[in-house]
Amino acid sequence: MRNAPLGFFDSGVGGLTVVRAVQQLLPAEDIVYLGDTARLPYGSKSPETIRQFAHEDVRFLLSREVKMIVVACNTATAHALPSLQEQYRIPIIGVIEPGVEAVLSDPAAQRIGIIATRGTVGSHAYQHELALRRTGLILHATPAPLLVPLVEEDWLDHPATRAALHTYLDPMLDRGIDTLMLACTHYPLLIPVLKDFLPDGVRLVDSATTCAEHVRNQLTELNLLSEDSTPGSLQINLTDISDQFEDLARRFLARSPGRIQRVSL
Ligand code: DGL
Repeated sequence: MRNAPLGFFDSGVGGLTVVRAVQQLLPAEDIVYLGDTARLPYGSKSPETIRQFAHEDVRFLLSREVKMIVVACNTATAHALPSLQEQYRIPIIGVIEPGVEAVLSDPAAQRIGIIATRGTVGSHAYQHELALRRTGLILHATPAPLLVPLVEEDWLDHPATRAALHTYLDPMLDRGIDTLMLACTHYPLLIPVLKDFLPDGVRLVDSATTCAEHVRNQLTELNLLSEDSTPGSLQINLTDISDQFEDLARRFLARSPGRIQRVSL
């Protein structure tokens, strides 16, 4: 079992930001990735539909005999993680808990801004997990739906993106946030722009890096770290393939994605 692959799924290719972070930390792990590109985005869909899709995604990864599943999508984690963990015996982890732990690793964090899809913000999953772990936090959660298409368009340092960032972030900056949680797979690509945009003293936390550390801790705890010393493989499966998805996969992964398979669920 230790040398079985890790399974990841996301609504599309954005979850490759999490894969990239995991590969940097755990280069020997084989990875099977599923992006449900035929049905994205998940962020604007109802909780019931997101749960149904997430269960189908998990069943696909189980058919590939993975040893652990990472829900590399904030929206799917927000709406489906508890029901997935209840239904399947395999370890399944999401991106929210590691993100929350990373926010609270700073004992001074008090005023937290959260940007995410409508689905993630509407689920209150981040707000709930943060409030459970520390009392007295002041939370500002804002849906930032335009950031996903702007990142996909590669409009990272672009006036339209800066205008959107002003609209989403100025109200929380006016309220003096000390931490900004990037609660969506796509947002790590905006980190260079955000570093320039945010005033000094606002800490950025992204769910990709923090999730990778959580994956390593879980694998260690469960004695599931690969024993292989050769570099691990990455098999990307998408429910729809187009030139745009291939190009996006390259950008999110920051290297060639290799041969992408088209699959049906
Ligand atoms: N992967 C989604 C997330 O992290 C963003 C894209 C979508 O809405 O499907 O919430």
